[in-house]
Amino acid sequence: MEKKIPYKIYLEESEMPKEWYNVRADMTNKPAPLLNPGTLKPMTAEELGTVFCEELVKQELDNDNRYIPIPQKIQDFYKMYRPAPLVRAYCLEEKLQTPAKIYYKFEGNNTSGSHKLNSAIAQAFYAKDQGLKGVTTETGAGQWGTALSMACSYLDLDCKVFMVKCSYEQKPFRREVMRTYGASVTPSPSETTEIGRKILSEHPGTSGSLGCAISEAVEVATHTDGYRYVLGSVLNQVLLHQSIIGMETKIAMDKYGIKPDIIIGCAGGGSNLGGLISPFMGEKLRGEADYQFIAVEPASCPSLTRGVYAYDFCDTGMVCPLAKMYTLGSGFIPSPNHAGGLRYHGMSSILSQLYHDGYMEARSVEQTSIFAAAEQFARVEGILPAPESSHAIRVAIDEAMKCKETGEEKTILFGLTGTGYFDMVAYEKYHNGQMSDYIPTDADLQIGFDGIPKFPGNEIK
Ligand SMILES: Cc1ncc(COP(=O)(O)O)c(C=O)c1O
Repeated sequence: MEKKIPYKIYLEESEMPKEWYNVRADMTNKPAPLLNPGTLKPMTAEELGTVFCEELVKQELDNDNRYIPIPQKIQDFYKMYRPAPLVRAYCLEEKLQTPAKIYYKFEGNNTSGSHKLNSAIAQAFYAKDQGLKGVTTETGAGQWGTALSMACSYLDLDCKVFMVKCSYEQKPFRREVMRTYGASVTPSPSETTEIGRKILSEHPGTSGSLGCAISEAVEVATHTDGYRYVLGSVLNQVLLHQSIIGMETKIAMDKYGIKPDIIIGCAGGGSNLGGLISPFMGEKLRGEADYQFIAVEPASCPSLTRGVYAYDFCDTGMVCPLAKMYTLGSGFIPSPNHAGGLRYHGMSSILSQLYHDGYMEARSVEQTSIFAAAEQFARVEGILPAPESSHAIRVAIDEAMKCKETGEEKTILFGLTGTGYFDMVAYEKYHNGQMSDYIPTDADLQIGFDGIPKFPGNEIK
């Protein structure tokens, strides 16, 4: 007999994963290594060690070990807000009158309001373990900075956050949450770093981007004794930590005999999507099961759907290593879309490789249709979603409506990465009809592509 599926599936603490899953171990085509922009050779552990903590460098370079044990202290911290519920969206299904079965993994159930805490505590733990004084970072929407400031205060580490200027202005309360947890918060680009001053002189009045903020944070980390830089997305290590999302989801689904047909996530730098899909992708890569994976990105910052696959700088200031990824060019500054966490020019090398090899699809969606989906979801499921997460909601609803037309009873799983309580200015603009849908023209994108480094083997097709 089929098991009755509850509205919310919560695992027991004892059922929580004790290891992260490293999808790279199952990839035949491994993600391309980071390159030193000076020598164009793969970055060595020693070179990476000047920017990142030692243990995280090991994780970054580890393409082989399928499982990495989660240190006990991190497992204990996870228990403050995990396991995260896997929710059956019965109310949304009813509202849409769809035969599809919709599930979402809700990661917003902690003060930082998003999945970012899963990697923040891991990165802060390894920094502390190495005896460092503090860490620097960038934040877009503010969720990553908030998560990191929580993790750092828990471990008594200093935390310096560069926050993308438009978010800093749109979300003053998020800034105050970070300060409550003891972090210092600087709007980026700022006058406090050499690279910030350069960007400001070249683009006066810029509202900033994640790429600018990364450059500033790296500069401060590499010029301050006892500090390292930590990044909230994109890197292999971050996807590894975020695999906790997919592992928990898979355990819960297996327990109830549920098999998703479609798995959907929003994609900024790729960490939540990478984490959610990892164990399912592992099965697909090993030929054990098949799933349809969909990455959803803003039409205003379409790195997968309109970007090129090439080596590019991870940051606007061109101080970071080169990563092979789908990119719009590190000089591309997206319009001030309200999903600040998705305003990144590139995409995780792991996801880029999987997308390039045809294991995953991507869609881009416009801002107003995101907010329409967010509102529809909030009204029936109760949770007020973050604009970033609402990209996944949009496509989940679209897929459920397709099922309504065809009568198919597909099982749809999506990642609900966070809550939108600090995004009410954006909701207000939407309600007042003041939200625009800016989509870059091909000519706009070409400007970004022109800045991609040129060297043999890195030709843009
Ligand atoms: C709520 C939320 N969802 C999704 C993202 C996108 O990041 P990623 O692609 O790394 O998951 C962010 C980034 O700030 C976020 O705050």
